Amino acid sequence: MTARAAGSSAPPALDVRGVTVRFAGLTALDGVSLTVAPGSVHALIGPNGAGKSTCFNVLSGLCRPTAGTVRLGDAELTRLAPHRIAALGVARTFQNIVTTEGTVADNLMLGRHALSRAGFTAGALRLPRAVREQRAHLAAAREIAELTGLAPHFDTPVALLSYGDRKRVELARALCLEPRVLLLDEPVAGMNAAERARTAEVVGDVRARLGLSVLLVEHDMGLVMRLADQVTVLDFGRVIAHGTPDEIRRDPEVLRAYLGTGAPAEEDTA
Ligand SMILES: Nc1ncnc2c1ncn2[C@@H]1O[C@H](COP(=O)(O)OP(=O)(O)OP(=O)(O)O)[C@@H](O)[C@H]1O
Ligand SMILES: [Mg+2]
Repeated sequence: MTARAAGSSAPPALDVRGVTVRFAGLTALDGVSLTVAPGSVHALIGPNGAGKSTCFNVLSGLCRPTAGTVRLGDAELTRLAPHRIAALGVARTFQNIVTTEGTVADNLMLGRHALSRAGFTAGALRLPRAVREQRAHLAAAREIAELTGLAPHFDTPVALLSYGDRKRVELARALCLEPRVLLLDEPVAGMNAAERARTAEVVGDVRARLGLSVLLVEHDMGLVMRLADQVTVLDFGRVIAHGTPDEIRRDPEVLRAYLGTGAPAEEDTA
């Protein structure tokens, strides 16, 4: 594995303080604070429309908060452009995007491009340094494919893969950025039980072997309860609870927020 990911020290804490996001007339996030501890899996849960993806959009630089700050260790991420945030080690997947173009290798190499120092011109001219770099990127992409169970499909067009594998290509592509913090927005949505179990295993492995922190948005409470060290619950843009999975499962505020959409403990499908 590459220098930043393997054997490197624990990632810095991701610290979100008082983040507020307003869209014309609607407060999507209202003074949200949470801290993703180094090397932990931190789940962000809440009913539909609670603000979870908006929070990810702030963390990844796609949405500018009206107020509040985001820091990764000593680095201030608030209002940085998405590519700057990615370069500082924060990578994400999207809730509704599933890749359909190219092979698995092509998709993973896209993830590597953000790290490429040689640049496109040198690459196009096949300068020795660029060729060497390309080879190293391919080796790193292969390693990520191994880690995410996609190695047997490395040269397969993603259009031919199962839905679960395709969705895992997204996760693998984010990992190719060598993040220190990985933001996963509903990584098992739409998957069947076997695919969910497989992805849960991959997320657990990735955290253990790469030592990165994971912020996980997921409606599958079985998966959240199994993987998360800490859980923050959002409802209508506000943090209504924070604690261990066990504490959250028993929290009356949380049960109330989920009333009508199914209490969190009942959604166990993983
Ligand atoms: N660009 C936008 N413009 C206006 N309103 C928005 C925008 N993005 C999100 N919203 C609104 O902000 C609120 C929070 O949306 P968000 O997508 O963050 O919720 P979520 O918790 O991810 O929900 P889900 O579980 O359904 O994915 C919703 O009311 C949504 O309609
Ligand atoms: Mg969402």
